[in-house]
Amino acid sequence: PARALAAMAAQEPASLEALNAVIRASEPLVPGATQAVLGEGPLGAAIAFVGEQPGDQEDLQGRPFVGPAGQLLARALREAGIDRDRSYLTNAVKHFKFEMRGKRRLHQSPTAGEVAHYRWWLDRELAFVAPRLVVALGATAVLALSGRQIPITRARGPAAFAGKPFDGFITVHPSYLLRLPDAARPEAYEAFVGDLRRAALLAA
Ligand code: URA
Repeated sequence: PARALAAMAAQEPASLEALNAVIRASEPLVPGATQAVLGEGPLGAAIAFVGEQPGDQEDLQGRPFVGPAGQLLARALREAGIDRDRSYLTNAVKHFKFEMRGKRRLHQSPTAGEVAHYRWWLDRELAFVAPRLVVALGATAVLALSGRQIPITRARGPAAFAGKPFDGFITVHPSYLLRLPDAARPEAYEAFVGDLRRAALLAA
C-alpha cells in the first residue's frame, strides 16, 4: 500500500477522491496532528471558502470549521443567505499545528513555507470543485491563493488571484473576530456579514 500511495502521489490525481486519499495518507509537515482535515462540500459549488488550517476541534473531528471560528462562520453565512451545505469549505493547510500550553493545544500559524507545501493540493482541490468564486478568509488563505503576503485591510473585497480560473474575494478570518475586544466585535461582525453578502452576489 505504501508503494501504491507513492505512485498515486507522483501522478496527477484523477478525481477529488483520489486527491483526498493522497492527502489523508500524508504525514503532517509538523508532527502532532490527529488526522488530515479535508475540504467539504459538493463538486460544482458556486462558492468556496478557504480558511487557514484546522483548529483543535477540526483536528479531533476531522471536519473543517466545526470549532468556535467555524460556528461563527456558520452564523455569518446564514445571515448572509449562503447555504453552507451548498458551499465548499476547505483550508490552505490540511493539518493542525499547535504548541502545548499546559493541557491545551494552542494553535500556531503556519509558516509561508508550510503554506507553499500545501498549495499544490489546494490548487488541485479547487480545480476539481471548480467554483465560480473563492473567498479567502484571512491572510494565510490569501497567501495560499496568490503566493503573496497582502494585508487584509487593504485588499478586502473582490480580488483577482493571478492564473486562477475563478474569481476571488478577500475578507477577514472569523477567528480574527473572536479575538477582538467585545466592544469592537459587533461592528466587525456586521462588516464580515456584509462581505459575505457581496461575495454571494458575485457567485450568483
Ligand atoms: N480555522 C480555519 O482556518 N479553519 C478551520 O477549519 C477552523 C478554524
